[in-house]
Amino acid sequence: MQGSANLNIMIKAARKAGRGLVKDFREVENLQVSSKGAGDFVSRADIAAEKTLKDELLGARPNYGWLAEEEGEIPGTDPTRRWIVDPLDGTTNFLHGLPHWGVSIALEHKGEIVSAVVFDPAKDEMFVAEKGAGAWLNESRLRVSDRRHLIESIFATGLPFGGRTDLPATLQDLARLLPATAGVRRWGAAALDLAYVAAGRLDGYWERGVHAWDLAAGLLIVREAGGLAEPIRAGASMLGDGEIVAANAQVFDAFAKVIRNA
Ligand code: IPD
Repeated sequence: MQGSANLNIMIKAARKAGRGLVKDFREVENLQVSSKGAGDFVSRADIAAEKTLKDELLGARPNYGWLAEEEGEIPGTDPTRRWIVDPLDGTTNFLHGLPHWGVSIALEHKGEIVSAVVFDPAKDEMFVAEKGAGAWLNESRLRVSDRRHLIESIFATGLPFGGRTDLPATLQDLARLLPATAGVRRWGAAALDLAYVAAGRLDGYWERGVHAWDLAAGLLIVREAGGLAEPIRAGASMLGDGEIVAANAQVFDAFAKVIRNA
């Protein structure tokens, strides 16, 4: 696709950070014997990837704001635009040597995501979208699946781990959803879950308790591939409240009804 100058900056930044992460991922396998060693190494890899992205993105657009997993929010002199970045989505997969993690970069303008990149360096899959211009995987146009019925559809989510308080709600979702569908997957990288909905590999995705940087790029990619993405609760905000229900447009209502318990 013929992307904007900003999209090209984002793709270049994602590839550069991805190269560093692939090198570090090879090292992780050698560090598995000591989980503390691997954990420290992975947080250093995460921080290094964020620095690469910050140098590239703010280097090219120094007046934009910045919101990222490691460093948090830095206001820009242009208050209408900010980069929303997750340098390593799927950190736990990365730490365990599972090749399913990615770099997520979104550009927000006046509160709306206008350009998006989700890059899976291990599989060399670059998912991109621009508002009004469609979504692409490498050179191919993306379309959501055309499944119409829950019973033939598969969905992804994030299962709450550690001290996350959204476990009871997620268990109730599963109890309602599993008997009505072809199944649920837990891949461990929210940005890639959304990219896979856009690619028609999954029919939908939902999660609570996620962060803006996990969702920002993926939600535009889903919408530009013909899917729908909304907050779970009426009046909530996907990025502000960290919740989302997304699916192909045909199955969306039935799926959202189950998740919203409506
Ligand atoms: C996590 C992953 C995971 C999701 C969590 C996220 P991180 O992001 O996207 O799939 O279930 O909610 O925090 O920590 O690997 O960037």
